[in-house]
Amino acid sequence: MYFMKRLSVVFMLFFALACNNAGNQNTVKKDSVFQISAAAYQQEIKGKKVDLFLLTNKNKMSVFISNFGGRIVSVNVPNKTGGFTDVVLGYDSLQHYFNRKENYFGALIGRYGNRIAKGKFQLDGKTYQLAINNPPNTLHGGPTGFHNQIWDAKKLDEQSLELSYVSKDMEEGYPGTLTVKVLYHLLEDNSIAISYQATTDKKTILNLTNHSYFNLNGAGSGTINDHLLTINADKFTPVDSTLIPTGVFADVVGTPFDFRKPRAIGDSVNSSSEQIQNGKGYDHNFVLNRKSSSDMELAATVYSSISGIKLEVFTREPGIQFYGGNFLDSSLLGKKDLHYGFRTAFCLETQHFPNAPNESSFASTQLIPGKTFETKTIYKFSVQ
Ligand code: GLA
Repeated sequence: MYFMKRLSVVFMLFFALACNNAGNQNTVKKDSVFQISAAAYQQEIKGKKVDLFLLTNKNKMSVFISNFGGRIVSVNVPNKTGGFTDVVLGYDSLQHYFNRKENYFGALIGRYGNRIAKGKFQLDGKTYQLAINNPPNTLHGGPTGFHNQIWDAKKLDEQSLELSYVSKDMEEGYPGTLTVKVLYHLLEDNSIAISYQATTDKKTILNLTNHSYFNLNGAGSGTINDHLLTINADKFTPVDSTLIPTGVFADVVGTPFDFRKPRAIGDSVNSSSEQIQNGKGYDHNFVLNRKSSSDMELAATVYSSISGIKLEVFTREPGIQFYGGNFLDSSLLGKKDLHYGFRTAFCLETQHFPNAPNESSFASTQLIPGKTFETKTIYKFSVQ
């Protein structure tokens, strides 16, 4: 029975990947076989089983997710040729997630997405010190953050996977036992909905997100500077040279951060403006224009005319981190041994603002016992 189940997962993988297409910089190939073996993800770590799960819908869109870090490994979406393009960066095997220099591909991020200045924050007068894993700050929940944890996985049906994780009191220096549930749901309209829920037994802080790296021409197919980006934000949070927000909300008007109308990502990415220099390109949080405080609203749109693929991001969160892949470099080998070079992927991480625990003017990221934290983000793909 177990063997049959494994065999059917392997069959589904090859079926879905046979339709897949890695694309290249100038043209999009209709079909090119991309091989991924579920076995390359099946391993027992600290008594927990790591596996690769496949979600598919009636349009044959497929999403592969590992319960190691709750990572989205591969997302194969229809392109304008009638074929499929794998639009996210990742690795061919679990092992590569342990030994390559980019740690966050596709991962669930927690307890706190993005940076906390000097790894310090206070709650009820008590100071908490976190690991400094991005000197002089803490980044993405620290070295053993959620991206490096084995989540419990429950496949609910062909289109949904539920992941859960219990983070112990003081794990990575954060107070309270935090119980987190994340639902990945592939919808019939080619959306991936990610719903997050968390509760705690002591007052704590949290900022959960997903860290997928996208290239709408296919992972490993060259620059994203030609992609057209729109961000529904009149303001952004300028940063210091260590990427900590200064606390100010600055107008995007007249700056390289004005993406209110579709504009090529590369238009001003080499500007000499102080903010672009501080971010080494784009690595900034945008303050989303919101009509309500909690409805799903359109935050950003990205489009590539090469593949014809459009990505729309909807969220309930107040902010979005637009990161343009400034720390990628071509020594990094990804799926199919393709090079993941400088600025060949972008991230749109929906979230509360970086360093909010130390900025009283930013929306609070505190969670208290008895309350359930809930948020949701949708990545929706279509062809234009
Ligand atoms: C986030 C940060 C970036 C970088 C990436 C991961 O987007 O803002 O500075 O650390 O994660 O490499």
